[in-house]
Amino acid sequence: MDGQTKRVVLIGFMGVGKTSVARHLSSMLGLEKADLDYYIEENEGRSIAEILNSEGEPRFRQIETANLKALLSSVPVPILSLGGGTWTMEENRQMIIDHGYTSVWLESTFEHCWLNIKFSRKARPLAKNKTRAIKLFEERQNLYCLAEWHFIIRPDFTSFDAARQMAEEIFS
Ligand code: S3P
Repeated sequence: MDGQTKRVVLIGFMGVGKTSVARHLSSMLGLEKADLDYYIEENEGRSIAEILNSEGEPRFRQIETANLKALLSSVPVPILSLGGGTWTMEENRQMIIDHGYTSVWLESTFEHCWLNIKFSRKARPLAKNKTRAIKLFEERQNLYCLAEWHFIIRPDFTSFDAARQMAEEIFS
């Protein structure tokens, strides 16, 4: 770590806007960013949905952890967005902390996330129906809660608004 640039990892449920907020933050602050899902897809040569559908969630989690390890041990970027389940694995949380990242939970209501899931082009096999998605959302709150920062995403906020507020509060 160079001791100067803060490292921030964005966590939170599917559809809360981690990837978009990271993209805006990166361009506002002129800092490099990475998105773990994109990184996995590039490295594995298949989409996350393909991996989940063909190999199941336990194998996907192993692939996810291996890719997180590879990503962090290359040049750790200052802004990192994760998949919604990455932070739920203890090994992943520890790796992130060991690499000097400040964790920020993008917190919102289930309905807000669900609306984004429904209208997104991204396939999310773990949120195929609302009942299953609500269950996951509820199960994960206690783990997301472990993040250092809790950043409320208001439903009337665009991802640009959220990034601007985050830039002021966390990076200033
Ligand atoms: C997942 C979230 C997805 C992706 C995968 C599993 C999860 O990322 O990693 O479908 O377990 O919550 P997003 O949070 O970007 O949708």
